[in-house]
Amino acid sequence: MKIILAVDNNWGIGLDGDMLFHLKKDLLHFKEETLGSLCIMGRKTYESIGWPLPKRENLVLTRDKSYKEDRIVVFNDLYDLLTYVDNSPKEAYVIGGNEIIELLLPYCDEAIITKIDSIREADTYLHNFDEDPSWEVYKESEPLYEDNLKFTYVYYRRIK
Ligand SMILES: NC(=O)c1ccc[n+]([C@@H]2O[C@H](COP(=O)([O-])OP(=O)(O)OC[C@H]3O[C@@H](n4cnc5c(N)ncnc54)[C@H](OP(=O)(O)O)[C@@H]3O)[C@@H](O)[C@H]2O)c1
Repeated sequence: MKIILAVDNNWGIGLDGDMLFHLKKDLLHFKEETLGSLCIMGRKTYESIGWPLPKRENLVLTRDKSYKEDRIVVFNDLYDLLTYVDNSPKEAYVIGGNEIIELLLPYCDEAIITKIDSIREADTYLHNFDEDPSWEVYKESEPLYEDNLKFTYVYYRRIK
């Protein structure tokens, strides 16, 4: 499984249930990367997006056994989710938020992080892959620019 998220310089990812940035180029990069795949997310992230991501299977984790929405697959149990992912031929991406990343990190071997060179007020932070010796950077894009922000796509892989 791969992780794909966008962070600021403090690894901040969200505030008040919303994302910190909405960069068109990054959204396109996210779409190109995840189209046709399984997208795994926490219930809070699903509700912050507001609708199922088109042309992808939306797998949503919640403890609420009555949670039901059209065009998503709901899981209450981590192992049911892992079994579903194992039995699918599709690539699986964990798209957030942090609670779900923490839960699924042991099962992930790649992380595609959009690093946005900025600091925003945040209340939700991602695992800092730069400080984790189990991960290394294996690829990095050239800098991109939008809305006076500089950002790069940084590709991490698990090394132990
Ligand atoms: N920058 C980015 O790329 C990016 C990407 C995604 C999200 N975000 C931001 O991140 C924030 C949300 O992240 P978050 O960490 O607060 O929440 P989250 O991970 O999206 O969702 C947390 C929810 O997942 C469910 N859950 C957690 N552990 C579970 C388990 N063991 N079994 C079953 N369900 C479980 C619970 O849902 P219930 O409460 O329903 O039980 C929990 O409230 C928002 O601000 C969002 O905009 C940013």
